[in-house]
Amino acid sequence: MPLDLIIGAQWGDEGKGRITDLLAAEADIVARYSGGDNAGHTITVGEQIFKLHLIPSGIVHPHTICLLGSGMVVNPAILLGEIDHLGSLGVDVSPQRLKLSSAAHVLTPAHIALDAAEETRRSGDMLGTTRRGIGPAYKDKAARSGLRLGAMRRPEDFASQVQEHMQAAGEVLERIYGFDSPDPDEVAGIYCDYAKRLRPYLTDVGGHVAQALEDGATVLGEGAQGTLLDLDHGTYPFVTSSYPTTPGALLGLGVGPKHLRRIIGVTKAFQTRVGSGPFPTEVFDETAERLRGTGENPWDEFGTTTGRPRRVGWLDCVLLRYAVRVNGFTELALTKLDILTGLDPLKLCAAYRQEEDRHKDLPDGPADLSPFTPEYNELPGWHNDLWEARHWDDLPPEAQNYIGRVEELTKLKVKLISVGPEREQVIRRDIEA
Ligand code: IMP
Repeated sequence: MPLDLIIGAQWGDEGKGRITDLLAAEADIVARYSGGDNAGHTITVGEQIFKLHLIPSGIVHPHTICLLGSGMVVNPAILLGEIDHLGSLGVDVSPQRLKLSSAAHVLTPAHIALDAAEETRRSGDMLGTTRRGIGPAYKDKAARSGLRLGAMRRPEDFASQVQEHMQAAGEVLERIYGFDSPDPDEVAGIYCDYAKRLRPYLTDVGGHVAQALEDGATVLGEGAQGTLLDLDHGTYPFVTSSYPTTPGALLGLGVGPKHLRRIIGVTKAFQTRVGSGPFPTEVFDETAERLRGTGENPWDEFGTTTGRPRRVGWLDCVLLRYAVRVNGFTELALTKLDILTGLDPLKLCAAYRQEEDRHKDLPDGPADLSPFTPEYNELPGWHNDLWEARHWDDLPPEAQNYIGRVEELTKLKVKLISVGPEREQVIRRDIEA
């Protein structure tokens, strides 16, 4: 009967996919609840690397049912591409295993074109979106003019709705932005075919989750993006257009909090960000090169969805404490600890300075971080390779000390620690005595 949530505590890319992969082994249902294909999860299973944007990472575990919740915006072309790709690798992606909320919204080529047009117009003030059409799709949802997946149950009617939507969006694209727009009839025809393929997958996800919880199932909510990209609680306007936080998970799944058990905040051992916006602990020197990597390894800090180099910096525990507050985390998962190996000393932001003032917590949310300078704790680094560590006692004292300081600052236990890219390279303090 428990509902466990995996939530990004930073600006996304925290390694939620691998934590989901770990806990999916013990879950019956894995559900995405917000965002769209702006997310990118890389799962390594033996020799195979899966890159997923919409389908929950839990799909690689044959026993799970995977759901896409109502809080999502779904590009059917991407979804069908993933279904076909996974199917070709022998993964069962039948409607018995994969279910889509009828209340999730449909993302179209017009949304993608509008995303590009809006970014171009912002020019120097670009948000740095993933250009997947996310903002415009949620804009239509909020304006109550969006198309929901449920409309795919009647493909011919759905096609006319798509046609009308493309026509209306085309006028905006051409007249306001001077952009070419995709042909409405052509898109409507393609979307009619998508509807025929996707309608068997449609269901009432909220009802399904609620019933499963009543029946004793374990449901895992798989977050995308992160707390600081939350539309209400992130570094607005440099945010996404959905709610990647705990309240957003409940909203996007369609269930109340009654069954909540673990709310796991996932944070990297350092800080990264793609796109524009404030980043108080950002670094640019050789430490940045060390944290980011060259791009040669799959775990280097280059976007899964966009390929963009990520901005990198020291772990910011002021923002992490904020994420703990917003989400009500019950524990933390710390990923990529191994990347800190060889960096000595290590720095950790414990508070912000603003002239004579010292803030352990944000005085007024994270939207404007410009008045603050990070106050760092300097901690000794370690030089031993961590890749073989499987237990807390395998970690060098300096690594234990680093994690201990994070725990002190957040008042939460770090229960999962990843020390390398492979499935088994993780220290599980949630099951250790
Ligand atoms: P959008 O979600 O494409 O509208 O982009 C808005 C902001 O969120 C941009 O700064 C993106 O780089 C960021 N963003 C969106 N999705 C992700 C993600 O999965 N990981 C990291 N950043 C993301």
